[in-house]
Amino acid sequence: MKKFLAGVVAAWVVLVIGIYAFVSFGCLPANADSKPPIIERWMAHTSLRASIRREAPQGPVPVALTDANLEAGVKLYAANCAVCHGASDGEPSNIAQGLYQHAPQLAQDGVADDPEGVIYWKVKHGIRLTGMPAFSPTLTEEQVWQVVLFLKHMDSLPAGVEKTWKSVPSAKTAD
Ligand code: HEC
Repeated sequence: MKKFLAGVVAAWVVLVIGIYAFVSFGCLPANADSKPPIIERWMAHTSLRASIRREAPQGPVPVALTDANLEAGVKLYAANCAVCHGASDGEPSNIAQGLYQHAPQLAQDGVADDPEGVIYWKVKHGIRLTGMPAFSPTLTEEQVWQVVLFLKHMDSLPAGVEKTWKSVPSAKTAD
């Protein structure tokens, strides 16, 4: 038994030294201009899905579907999100293209099909291992829900709000 335990401890020591050497000799890539390997994508996506399943709110949206809330959502999006997720023309900025996980252009590749609670969780908590920031330190609960409302109804906005959305300047970076 003692020998077995000594073997287990030795295996752990070798593993820890191996991981330390792997990281400190620069074998773990630190660059953002390549495609994430399958194992990293699997870990990021699986843990994201599991966290959302456990934590995303399920109840009704606590903010009313009014023009004023949608309008506020568009403005918050223009100020906080368009730099990565683009305006209504769906043209990506240099920042969006350079992120390690490319930021989806939400006018083209939107999230209207996702439940509101899922969108809320991503905006509030951010997405680890990607450039998606958490907005819990900066936006109020009401503001997060207003952005969620806008993203959920992006394809069916009332005329006045649609006009504001179309007037958000393109995020495309000048050549
Ligand atoms: C600095 C860049 C950046 C900013 C600013 C940013 N995001 Fe993101 N966001 C990302 C990236 C990168 C992803 C992709 C993450 C991934 O691949 O899972 C993402 C993913 C998302 C998703 C999930 C998309 C999907 O297809 O499931 C939503 C929703 C989202 N962001 C909303 C927002 C909102 C709303 C804001 C502003 C309040 C915002 N983001 C600001 C970079 C950003």
